[in-house]
Amino acid sequence: MINLIQNSKDAFIYNKITKRDIIITTSKNDTMAKITVEDNAGGINDKDFDKIFEPYFTTKHSSSGTGLGLFMSKIICEQGFNGTINIQKNKNGVTFFIQIPLEIVDDVE
Ligand SMILES: Nc1ncnc2c1ncn2[C@@H]1O[C@H](COP(=O)(O)OP(=O)(O)OP(=O)(O)O)[C@@H](O)[C@H]1O
Ligand SMILES: [Mg+2]
Repeated sequence: MINLIQNSKDAFIYNKITKRDIIITTSKNDTMAKITVEDNAGGINDKDFDKIFEPYFTTKHSSSGTGLGLFMSKIICEQGFNGTINIQKNKNGVTFFIQIPLEIVDDVE
């Protein structure tokens, strides 16, 4: 969550957005917890869109971004929680969708 919010904050500043919204929703059903994080920070170029979860992919200056934030977020969601993280474009920015299964399934060799 910190990675996502920090990215929105960086994009608000880079894109000089003054009316800044980050909308976080949570919900769950019998099996899954769901979190969405939506911003209006200007969105992501088509050419970059498919790369953002790759390690070391960044559009930021090397002093301000290593490109590991979303890669780590994906590892945490997938390997830490056995869940998923996805992104979609919205009207003025992006929305991240996190889904985490509620049932704990122990790893079996
Ligand atoms: N909410 C967002 N709005 C616009 N662009 C985004 C957003 N989130 C991520 N990005 C883009 O995805 C790239 C990768 O994000 P990621 O968090 O992995 O790395 P970073 O923020 O560049 O560096 P780090 O998080 O390691 O400091 C960013 O450089 C930025 O171009
Ligand atoms: Mg980041």
